[in-house]
Amino acid sequence: MSNRDEYLEGMDVRDTLDRPVRDLRISVTDRCNFRCTYCMPKSVFGRDYVFMPRRDLLTFEEIERVARIFASLGVRKIRLTGGEPLLRTDLDVLVEMLAAIPELDLTLTTNGALLPRKARALREAGLDRITVSLDSLDEETFRAMNDVDFPVARVLEGIDAAAAAGLPVKVNAVIKRGVNDGGVVELARRFRGTGHTVRFIEFMDVGATNGWRLDDVVPAAEIVSAIDAVFPLEPVEAAYHGEVARRWRYRDGAGEIGIIASVTQPFCSACTRARISAEGKLYTCLFAVRGTDLRELIRSGASDDEVRASIDAVWARRADRYSELRTEATATLPKVEMSYIGG
Ligand SMILES: C[S@@+](CC[C@H](N)C(=O)[O-])C[C@H]1O[C@@H](n2cnc3c(N)ncnc32)[C@H](O)[C@@H]1O
Ligand code: SF4
Repeated sequence: MSNRDEYLEGMDVRDTLDRPVRDLRISVTDRCNFRCTYCMPKSVFGRDYVFMPRRDLLTFEEIERVARIFASLGVRKIRLTGGEPLLRTDLDVLVEMLAAIPELDLTLTTNGALLPRKARALREAGLDRITVSLDSLDEETFRAMNDVDFPVARVLEGIDAAAAAGLPVKVNAVIKRGVNDGGVVELARRFRGTGHTVRFIEFMDVGATNGWRLDDVVPAAEIVSAIDAVFPLEPVEAAYHGEVARRWRYRDGAGEIGIIASVTQPFCSACTRARISAEGKLYTCLFAVRGTDLRELIRSGASDDEVRASIDAVWARRADRYSELRTEATATLPKVEMSYIGG
């Protein structure tokens, strides 16, 4: 055990289900240049989304301060997300500030559209790894899913740019029944042997606008068996406690895939994740209805100790295990949108 692990053991905050806080997802903007039908569907209100005014967003200094406080509570991994995080101006400056926090794994999830221009600066600023979302290699299917007619080739360019900049890449694909489930094996085939792990994600009932139905979910077991039939797979031990993706490797040594089965195999009991929305609200579950306003606390002049005590108190009260309790009925709760809370 390292000195830092011993230190963390001594000061660990645990929630009511004995879960520590280890991961922090920070949404840096609620805006997006895509309108993925499963995330920010265009037509729900008959008008586009109303985004937060810029002054409501946490500043880079505020984000860094919150991140340092979380690190002092045991967080070891930070993921920047959104909305589309690369839309936030000068994001590499924030990455550089966060990369200066010792012993943190710093990563980012993006739709890849702006990566060809930004990958190198992000790597040079100290980003450790990157996840790029790509739901289908089929042109028509992908354009329909992102709903802004964005071509597959430009996301692939983004992935190549990230790899060329020296960033380890994962690829996220949300699988929806009858939409892109026919392309699962093609995605596996395209990235086998490249070193980029594809993570297949069950379509989730996040937010209140994506019209989720259980029938639209392609169960993880079905995804694995479709790939296994063509490229034989075997399970891999989780790399660490709380790892959300179940890992499988190709028996011929061509790499791994991950499966995020939040619907059919919920992992709430091992969930060590906190989330901060772009306006500084703290959420302890992706499926939350309400958050705790840290921005208000910070802007009212609270000291680091006061902010830490507030986060500590929220975590200590935490009892969320939505995915384990999910039913068709809970899907209609007025949950916050994923583009707001950060995916
Ligand atoms: C909300 S996005 C934010 C980052 C960036 N815009 C992107 O798309 O990668 C983060 C991840 O959440 C996934 N996601 C969004 N809505 C989802 C849903 N309803 N079910 C499962 N995953 C979802 C996206 O596919 C993406 O991989
Ligand atoms: S999944 Fe990402 S790219 Fe798609 S609409 Fe949501 S935030 Fe935008």
